[in-house]
Amino acid sequence: MRRIFSGIQPTGIIHLGNYLGAIKQWVEMQDKVDESIFCVVDLHAITVRQDPEKLRQATLSTAAWYLACGVDPEKSAIFIQSTRPEHTELGWILNCYTQIGELERMTQFKDKSNHEKTGTGAGLLTYPTLMAADILLYQATNVPVGEDQVQHVELTRDIAKRFNNLYGQTLVVPEYSTKIAGKRIMGLDDATKKMSKSAPSEYNYIALSDSPEKIMQKVKKAVTDSGTQIQHDTDQPAISNLLNIFSEITNQEVTEIEDQFLGKGYGEFKIALGQAIIDFLAPIQAKHNELMANPQHLEAILRAGSEKIAPLAQKTLSDVKQKIGLINL
Ligand code: AMP
Ligand code: TRP
Repeated sequence: MRRIFSGIQPTGIIHLGNYLGAIKQWVEMQDKVDESIFCVVDLHAITVRQDPEKLRQATLSTAAWYLACGVDPEKSAIFIQSTRPEHTELGWILNCYTQIGELERMTQFKDKSNHEKTGTGAGLLTYPTLMAADILLYQATNVPVGEDQVQHVELTRDIAKRFNNLYGQTLVVPEYSTKIAGKRIMGLDDATKKMSKSAPSEYNYIALSDSPEKIMQKVKKAVTDSGTQIQHDTDQPAISNLLNIFSEITNQEVTEIEDQFLGKGYGEFKIALGQAIIDFLAPIQAKHNELMANPQHLEAILRAGSEKIAPLAQKTLSDVKQKIGLINL
């Protein structure tokens, strides 16, 4: 039995890094596994302060991007994390089986703490135990994520093993898969940092919602390296990143693209890349607009997703409660 679980935070835009690092893998995997569950993790989003109306909008929009990118509600369950109370319940329990030191060691916590105007909320620290609850509730065997989330899945594995050691086999220990491991999508304005929606400049990322003009402008402005060759090389992180994007978007090998642009300049390469991204996103954007124009339909898909997986979440939570001595009435 192979069951995958993954999620993205609804914090504004979804960018190409999210698509290539996460959603693209989901779409490929939903046909290969027995069950797939994709969550919009709104409870993780509130670990930093959100505008309520924007959060509601972003939550629906994120779900619409999943669908527009090819997640099929007939094959996969798509739902909103906060609509299933089992997540916070199991999250609390797992907090009691996790060391503060383990949470403080997480790179994402170190990056995000002390940066908020409102201070570092306790939720930022306990973020990984909620993520562990998301995964373990559904007894997921595999978690497709971008490379930056691997540390959290490793902690999830440790927590599950610890629980099983104490109480006997209860939780499935999940594997993770990073399709483009080590090949994170980097920022267009700085190829040493990952593409991120929290980057200071919008020239860091291509949002899935960017207009064709904006996409072309951003690709043209992307930093390049000191060399002149369009070649994938560790000394040329910026052009290597653009080649990775080109390759992933067009499903061509990097070497094929290098051959195509042999002896040609960066300018020509960038125009071709910009156009490839525009062509790739056009049908996805059209589908997203259509879904957002009919929120009742979208909400019905999300409600059905939540209902479909409820029995599994309830079963795991009740097993866990029974094992640790809580009363299930
Ligand atoms: P986030 O935007 O941090 O909520 O990430 C959502 C998903 O996208 C996670 O699986 C991340 O690992 C993945 N992801 C985010 N940024 C990148 C990136 N620059 N390259 C590859 N994957 C990414
Ligand atoms: N922490 C993940 C991120 O920021 C999102 C997430 C929450 C997640 N719960 C999850 C990813 C469970 C995979 C599985 O990208």
